[in-house]
Parts: sequence; structure tokens; C-alpha cells
Amino acid sequence: MDYLKTQGIDALNGTIKISGAKNASLPLIAMTILAKSRVRIKNLPHVADINTLLKLLSNLGSQCEFLDDCVEVDTSSINETKATYDIVKTMRASILVLGPILARFGHCEVSLPGGCAIGQRPIDLHLKALEQMGANIEIKAGYIEATAPTGLTGCKINFDKITVTGTANIVMAAALAKGTTTITNAAREPEVVQLCEVLQESGVNIKGIGTAILTIDGSDGELINIKEFSIIPDRIEAGTYLCAGAITKSELTLTNVEPKHLDAVLAKLEEMGSTFTLTEDTITIHPSQSIKPVKIVTQEYPAFPTDMQAQFLALATQADGVSIIEERLFENRFMHVSELQRMGADITLNGHTATVNGKTKLSGTDVMATDLRASSALVLAALVSEGETNIHRIYHLDRGYDALEKKLQGVGAKIERLKE
Ligand code: EPZ
Repeated sequence: MDYLKTQGIDALNGTIKISGAKNASLPLIAMTILAKSRVRIKNLPHVADINTLLKLLSNLGSQCEFLDDCVEVDTSSINETKATYDIVKTMRASILVLGPILARFGHCEVSLPGGCAIGQRPIDLHLKALEQMGANIEIKAGYIEATAPTGLTGCKINFDKITVTGTANIVMAAALAKGTTTITNAAREPEVVQLCEVLQESGVNIKGIGTAILTIDGSDGELINIKEFSIIPDRIEAGTYLCAGAITKSELTLTNVEPKHLDAVLAKLEEMGSTFTLTEDTITIHPSQSIKPVKIVTQEYPAFPTDMQAQFLALATQADGVSIIEERLFENRFMHVSELQRMGADITLNGHTATVNGKTKLSGTDVMATDLRASSALVLAALVSEGETNIHRIYHLDRGYDALEKKLQGVGAKIERLKE
């Protein structure tokens, strides 16, 4: 297994190019199941989760071809509708194939994804919505067995909770259903917006894109001519590197980024003392020399994203004062806290709220990554820790960050990937 060895450093400097968004790529790859023919996807990030989903599509009989700057996916040759446990257990977002496969083939078996480190991660809302559209859903021996022999029928769906992949699953199922589907309390994340935009540009009539009420006119089983598209920039990767600039008090410029996807993150960094220069596709952070404490509550987009909570918690250890960070989406998303405490952070956990007493001097040591975003929080802390930090189990990091250590080396960080 690989690990990252880092030396604390006083400042970084330079430019980081942001990759395509993992959480936009996953539903858009699943969407190719709805396509009449080959689909070209540009700007896919080179991360493990994308490879996992492409492997799943290949296991179902699709052709995936990697070209120099894009991937072409042809799902016309799919001859299997069972997503098996061996793949699904490694990536719960595999559930995103359920809606498209069921809508196209009338039957689908997907292994129950199970929970993950950050929480139970139920999919009850996905299944309830598909049943409302006419599917028959049974759970047998750890598999979801879904059938809709006469196809899915559009209807009014209200999500009890805002669910990102739940919204994506139903948008894709609705695109091939009979009649119109209206989704209320839909997720508004940029990644869901891009899925809707690509479908709309490919001829699917979708209204309300970017709002909590989506209306989709189904094609009644007619496959879609999906036009080539390029994945939007990864706002969470970008936010992570902005935190790297803030925590090391370094001026960094991010390119290939979409500033308007980062309003809540930029606002919190400004509260903590940073200022920014923005252009259409770049962000330059001008960090403050003293970091102010902050209050954060994670909520659905466009509010402060849960996927940035761990990174800001690491940053808050360097703030002069007491920060309060409340995690409202996932029940177990503070596993980075114990590792940060081992580095010297002064953090108190009380249920879903972390109280961070800053500023604390952090010392390098051996730490263990536990989930994707917790891993990046440990990297941020390591950048300002005295001495050497070794971050183990970075397969978690590789699921969602494209060449993180190379991008940080490129701006002067002393960080290298070694074998255990
Ligand atoms: C997506 O997960 C992201 N993953 C997560 O990013 C992100 O943290 C999350 O949205 C919230 O923004 C992808 O897009 C692949 P949800 P998802 O369904 O869709 C509850 C990362 O770090 N819920 O929006 O699985 C659920 O328990 C990952 O890149 C139900 O109760 O999240 C949670 O409390 C981690 N029943 C809340 O809704 C359901 O059927 C939001 O979950 C579905 C969800």
C-alpha cells in the first residue's frame, strides 16, 4: 500500500490546475446507459472511483475506450443487468446504475451498497421513488432486485430528504419513462445540474434545472442521442487547495475552476481572513497572516458543503480562537478528529458538533486516512506540522483526488508517495 511522507513547510507558491469533478463524472458515466450510441466524455478526472464505475459498465458488457484526452463509452452492447457485490462494495455510488438500467431493460439487480466509513448511507429514497414510478423492488440476499416489465411511468416524486445521487438516479430513470416526472425537493448541486444540462442538450425536455423542482418529459423507452460533453471542474478539489493556501498562508492560483460553484466556501474563507481575485475560470487566494475562527454548519448546496467540513476543521486548528463546526448530513464524519488530535489539535466532539480551540502547534507523526475527505484534511494539517508526517491508507485519497501529491509538489510542498 502507498503512503504519503510530508515535511511541514512555511509557504507554497504557484498555480494548480483543477481536474474534472468526480461527483459529476459518476452520474454522467451512468447516464451513458441511456444512450443510443457511443458517448465521448472529456475532462474525466484520473481517480479510482471513475475507473471503478467504468469497470462496472464493462462488466455489464459496455465498451470503454480511453483516448488521449477523453473516454468513449458505448453501452449498446450491454448484455448483463446485475451489478455485483465485488464492485459495488468498493464504491456505493454504483447505485447510480440502478435507475438507468431499470429504465432501459425493465429489470436490474444491484448489490446493496452497504454503509461506508462516514455513515449508513441508506438508499431508501432512491427505491421509494422508483416504486412510485411503477417498479417492483425486492431485497434478496443482499441484492436489490428491481423489475418494471412494462417500463417506468412518470409521476410526482417528493424526496423526504435532499439526496444528490437519489435525484440523479430518478432524473435518469425519468428520461426514459412514459410521461412526465416532477421531482420536488430535488438536489441542486452543480453535479446534478450538469447531468440535467447534458440530457437537455441531448434532446430531453427538462425544466427547473438548478432549482428544487425538476420536470422531466420521458422518451417512453426511446434511447437518447447523447452529445459529447466535458466534466465541470471539481469544486471540492478546488476548495481543498484553497484551504491549503489558507493554512500555509500562501498565495495560490487555481485554474480550470468554476468560482460560482464555491460561493459558500469562499465566504467562509473570507470570514477567516482570506481575500480572493476571481476571473471566469481562476481563483487566486490572498491569505491573511492570522486566521480568524469560524462557525460552520454543513447543509445541502448552495449552503456550506459537507465534503469541505474535514478540510475546514484542519484549517480551524490554526485559527486564533474557538471555531464551531456542525456536521448535519452524515452521522460519522468526524473520523479525522482523532488523527488531528494525535498531531496536537485541541478539538472537542459533542455529538455532531466539533469545537476547535486554535491556534495549536501541530507536530508531524504517523496518521491514518479513514475516508476520502478526512484524508485531505490530514494532508492540510501535515503541511503546517513541525517535522515529518506519514499518512497511511491513502487509497481513500486516491478515490477522489487526481494526482494530489504531484499538484502540491508543483507549488513547493515537500510531499512524496512511497510504498509501505
Ligand atoms: C453525494 O452522496 C456525494 N457523492 C457525497 O460526496 C456527498 O457528501 C453527498 O452527496 C452530500 O453532498 C456523490 O455524489 C458520488 P445524499 P449521496 O444521498 O448522494 C440521506 C465525497 O466525498 N439519504 O445526498 O450518497 C443520507 O443518509 C462524497 O465525494 C437517505 O436518508 O448523499 C444523508 O444523510 C462523500 N436516504 C443525506 O440524505 C436515501 O435514500 C444526503 O445524502 C439517500 C440519502
